[in-house]
Formats: sequence, C-alpha cells, structure tokens
Amino acid sequence: MCTGKNILLGVTGSIAAYKSAELVRGLKVRGADVHVIMTRSAQKFISALTFQTLSGHRVVTEMFPQEEISVPHIKLAEWADVILVAPATANILGKVASGLADDMLSTVVLASKAPLCFAPAMNARMLSHPVVVDNIRKLKDRGCTFIEPERGELACGTIGEGRLADLEAIIDGVMTLCDRSGQLSGKHVLVTAGRTEEPLDPVRFLTNPATGKMGYALAEAAHLRGARVSLISGPTHISPPPGIDLFNVRTAEEMARKAFELYEECDIVLMAAAVADFRPKNFSTEKIKKNGAGLTVALERTEDILADFGRRKSGKILIGFALETDDGVENATEKLNSKNLDLIVLNCLGEEGAGFGGDTNIVTLIDRFRRIEKLPKLTKRDLANRILDRVVDLVNE
Ligand code: CTP
Repeated sequence: MCTGKNILLGVTGSIAAYKSAELVRGLKVRGADVHVIMTRSAQKFISALTFQTLSGHRVVTEMFPQEEISVPHIKLAEWADVILVAPATANILGKVASGLADDMLSTVVLASKAPLCFAPAMNARMLSHPVVVDNIRKLKDRGCTFIEPERGELACGTIGEGRLADLEAIIDGVMTLCDRSGQLSGKHVLVTAGRTEEPLDPVRFLTNPATGKMGYALAEAAHLRGARVSLISGPTHISPPPGIDLFNVRTAEEMARKAFELYEECDIVLMAAAVADFRPKNFSTEKIKKNGAGLTVALERTEDILADFGRRKSGKILIGFALETDDGVENATEKLNSKNLDLIVLNCLGEEGAGFGGDTNIVTLIDRFRRIEKLPKLTKRDLANRILDRVVDLVNE
C-alpha cells in the first residue's frame, strides 16, 4: 500500500498518456494522494479534466498560470514522496538527463529530492537510439528507477519494444519506492567506497582494482531511503550521487582518520571500501631508481578501521565486506565474529558476473544470527537495495 504517501505523476506526450488515468486510480485505491503535472504535448492526447476528476486536485499544466494559485507549483517538489513520470517520452528523459528545466514538469523534477521513477513509452527506434540509450543509462546511474517498456504493437503500427509497461508493474514499482522512502530517516549512514593507494615513492603506489561502484550504489540507496549519508571515497571516476556528503581520500590512513572523525555521530556503517591491509614501511621522497637486480619493499599493517569500530560499537550497526577466493562462508563468518559485525557481505571471486569493476555482483549475506542468504547475480544497484533491506530489518530488530 501507499497509504499517506504523496505521489506526483508527470504525464508527457505519448499516446500511452490515456493509460495514466488508470494509474491515478490505482495509486489512489492504494491510499496515495496524487497530484498530476501534464506537459503541453500530453494535453493533446488526454484532457487535464480527466486527471483532475480522478486525482481530486487541479492539474498543473502551465509554468506561469494566469489564474491565482493557492500553492506555488514548485512546492510540489517538496510535497512529493515519489515522482513517477508515466508515460515518459524520449524528450523528458533527455531533458532530465541534461538538467534542462523549460517547463513545469522538468523544473519540479530538478527541484525535488524525491525518488524518481520513469515508465518510458516511445517508438522502438527512438528507444534504441544511442542518445536515448545513453540518457537512460545516465539516469539509472543517478539512481532513477525505470519500469522498462514492453514489446508489442506500437502506435505507429509496428511491432517492437517501447510500449508502456503493464500498469500493475508500474504501480508495484512506485509502491516499492514508497515503502523504502523514509525507512532510514533520522539515521546517519557512513559508507566507505573504492580502493586506497599506498605510495612507495612520488610515482608508484600499491593498490587494488576496486572501482567504488558498490559503495556509491549503497550511498545513493541509503540517501533515497531518507538517511543522512557521509561517503568516504578512495580514488574513483564515478560522479558523486546528489544529496550526500562526500569526502575524498587517498590512503588507508586518510580513510581511517576521516572515518574515526565521523564514527561517533553515525548510526550505521557500510564498510564497502577495499582498504589496503599493508602499506610500504618507508616512503621515498625521490623516485626509486632501478639500481641492481631487484628491490625488496618492507610493508607494515594499516589500521583495521572496521575492527576498531567493532571494539567500540555501542549500539551502532556495522556491515563489513569480505572478498574470498576459497572457504568463503567460513572465512567471512570468522571476520563477522572477530570484527563484531552485524552483517557481512561475502564476495567470492571466480564466478562470472562477480567481483571488481563490473556492474553486477554475486554475494552471500551472513548475519550475526548466522543466517546465510546466497543472492543471485544482481546489478550493484539492486544489490545495494537488498543489503539495505537487511539493514532496515536490523534497525527494526
Ligand atoms: N577493512 C578495514 N580496514 C582495513 C582493512 C579492511 O576497515 N585496514 C574492512 C573492509 O572495508 C571490509 C572488511 O574490513 O569491510 C574486510 O575485512 P578484511 O579482514 O580486511 O578482509 P580482507 O581484506 O579480505 O582481508 P584478508 O586478507 O584477511 O582476507
């Protein structure tokens, strides 16, 4: 159910716009309050009066209405718990992906922090155009949810992909977002992401292939559930998700310093960073020359941030990550115990679709009650949400 939730429905100019009237009904039946914004093109397909009658609210159609209005329309940006754009044309996807705000819907979308869900509907060739594909990827990377269009007969008479998704699937997608929104409000979540670099000399360092994708997906998902999020990130090429506090660091020592500074004020720690366990004992301020046959580098241990957190836990929820090549469950359980964690995410290298750098991962979750849950191959974004579902359970327990 979406009882008490505020849903802003954006309707754009596709023939599928008439189906959105049913969406308003479906969402209202599930307890939501629905406001509708229509673009100019949408009004060519269906009248605002239909949406006004179904939603019980005046429909917003103009950026600068002639008549006096009681609530400035931009207030809808704050009012919405979830924004659903259905049908979403290539035009609105392109505008939101590029940050354009030339009408009421694109302006409100840009002004809102609410989770954003798109249900695209368009001609198959438009949907597969590289620019549209790129825009959809960009929006997904920024945490937008997509209810993928279906294959079937399109308005132009051809058969292909681009038909608005089944209305029940769209409503289910919105309900999931409603469910999640606010689950972590009032909580401060600390996430670490990526790798660390441990310098040997000015041009060389020890590191690992972690890209930060998992940690960034967790930070964004926690933010969408209403948490205040601090993200400590090692070097990465990922753009930071909006609405979170980002702290860039390079070495394990810098990561530890920032993490220790933030620890007291946070409630939940998701330690996704692949922190170096060792660093060169001596840093050479000059580039090391290749004199002689070889080089022996002495290494020393870095501080184990998570183990330190585990020793002074005081009611916080601690989630660790373990990367194992063999005896995964046994080794990860040992880490869960020794670091005093609530949950450990075990990542076993070797399976296709698992490990560093990719968009997917295959993991097993082990909690402090020894419950073991092996998850299928998931995108890192979906995995982030599965992990956060468990975090929410731990918070509620
Ligand atoms: N971790 C940490 N500080 C370190 C090293 C690791 O906080 N200096 C955290 C990682 O972010 C991760 C978990 O501890 O959440 C991983 O535990 P660890 O025992 O370091 O696992 P591995 O790196 O896989 O180490 P090992 O070589 O012992 O298997």
